[in-house]
Amino acid sequence: MVYQWDADLYQQKHAFVHQYGSSLIDWLNPQQGEKILDLGCGTGELTHQIAQSAAEVIGIDQSEEMVHRAKQQYPNMQFQVMDATELTGLPQFDAVFSNAVLHWVLEAKQAIQQLYQYLKPKGRLVAELGGKNNIAQIISALNKQRVNFGYEVINIENQWYFPSVGEYSSLLEAEGFEVQQTHYYYRETTLAEDGIKEWIRMFAGRWLADVASHHKEKLLEATQESLRSTLFREGSWYADYKRLRILAVKT
Ligand code: BEZ
Repeated sequence: MVYQWDADLYQQKHAFVHQYGSSLIDWLNPQQGEKILDLGCGTGELTHQIAQSAAEVIGIDQSEEMVHRAKQQYPNMQFQVMDATELTGLPQFDAVFSNAVLHWVLEAKQAIQQLYQYLKPKGRLVAELGGKNNIAQIISALNKQRVNFGYEVINIENQWYFPSVGEYSSLLEAEGFEVQQTHYYYRETTLAEDGIKEWIRMFAGRWLADVASHHKEKLLEATQESLRSTLFREGSWYADYKRLRILAVKT
């Protein structure tokens, strides 16, 4: 699925994506001279942070706009437009790092096979993605309002892949990885001032694509309001993120 990204909106209002991802670099523990692939690098902030350890990092992203912005921000670093399921022309890596990207890749098995192929023996995959029941409250509220406004329910499984620890571990093991560390946790995520509405505009465009323009704002407002009692506290909106972190090694 090709998704259109707005790099301005992403950087201005959704910097939390790379800010939260920063602690995943501790799991990666990059070493001087290692070759590392940042899969789904977005605008390059984490790629740049990984490079501080003197590792040699290549950032790839499926979005031309994101890669363009990454190159503008970090002109001395390597970024390429590439899809996770169609890797090509890359070297062998000591590690693959991926933050908040793999849930967009519905062909999970294909992506895992590709990553395996580009890792050196004993190379590690360090990834965080949305886990089972990720953003379940937001999606349920959105679908409820879609029905109220006369639109059909959208099946989340056609949009994102939010696996359980067992499911993702099994996929990795089936392709030859040894899963060494996993962490599934609830991480309520503070949103920018326009809260749930802004999050939906940025990340869940599919839920609005068929909504008539005179309904859009009303549907967004109704969705947000229905979540006020659970996802709004002390002046801030939160997204009900459930994260899956994984460290797996190529055997
Ligand atoms: C996530 O990071 O969990 C996520 C982001 C956008 C859409 C869906 C999930």
